[in-house]
Amino acid sequence: MKVLGIECTAHTLSMGVIENGRALSNVIDTYSGASEGLIPRKMADHHAESFARVLAKCLADANVRMADVGLVAFSQGPGIGAPLSAGIAGAKYLALRFGKPLVGVNHCFAHAKISEHLCKMDKPLILYLSGGNSQILLEDAGGYYHVLGETLDIGIGNLFDSFARTIKMEHAHGSALSELAEGGKYFGLPYTVKGMNLVFSGLLTAAEKAARSHPHRDVARSLMETSFAMTCEVAERALYLSRKKSLLVCGGVAQNRRLQGMLKSMCIDDGVKFGVAPDEFNRDNGAMIAYAGSLLYKRYGAMPVAQCVPITNYRIDRMKEILG
Ligand code: FE2
Repeated sequence: MKVLGIECTAHTLSMGVIENGRALSNVIDTYSGASEGLIPRKMADHHAESFARVLAKCLADANVRMADVGLVAFSQGPGIGAPLSAGIAGAKYLALRFGKPLVGVNHCFAHAKISEHLCKMDKPLILYLSGGNSQILLEDAGGYYHVLGETLDIGIGNLFDSFARTIKMEHAHGSALSELAEGGKYFGLPYTVKGMNLVFSGLLTAAEKAARSHPHRDVARSLMETSFAMTCEVAERALYLSRKKSLLVCGGVAQNRRLQGMLKSMCIDDGVKFGVAPDEFNRDNGAMIAYAGSLLYKRYGAMPVAQCVPITNYRIDRMKEILG
């Protein structure tokens, strides 16, 4: 069955078609916000304005028509209300217009599932790192995910974006900060780990203060090294406690090569298999929603239209309550 997936939780509108676990297309269209930053209403406008164009390209790339699609899957949360509403309205229109079943997908579940599939891993320990989330996830025998540890304040991606904005980088984003950090020298910054949980706000404040008197590349390097080391520590603790022999990192920040290198060397030391999906599938993307949607449809069937509403605070550990 061909499944159309629609991702719309934040500033990215993406659509992808999956068939038998293979991505036939994956079109990603991200709203930059330019100088005014990311305003929720503007993200929703972007999704509404780009919807038809992204859909046409997604179907053309996959060489399918709407008539060939067997299921419409959409991102249901967690995310920002306005862009979620715009994307979900589009998904509902398509499903009702073409008579297709609908399935709402937890965005974090989709990141985990597409990565497990592409890395050929069965129930690994999962480190999910993105702008708004930083969590360690473990799947139980019933197929539900539990949060072993997480950030107690901001997500690691937001840490980088906030610092990049403070030092007025033109592209205030983790990937640009990572480039700046490459030539920098490391110095110590606050390191806060509480069991398997992370705290980043003190580190952000200290980095912002240090940026007034230190070269920005040195602060960027130190900020990234410190936060990645904290992340490795909690992941390693969770590996020991869970006795898992495989670790998967997923989400937008999982694309960072320095982080991948640190996690990989930790896994080699611990005799643990390490996995990370290609960058395209760690970005917010429609193909992962399509893939996860096909799994949920097999298990739960179609979602009633009345249930197809945004759930902005949809934690992955609420899936049993919401779907079960
Ligand atoms: Fe994401």
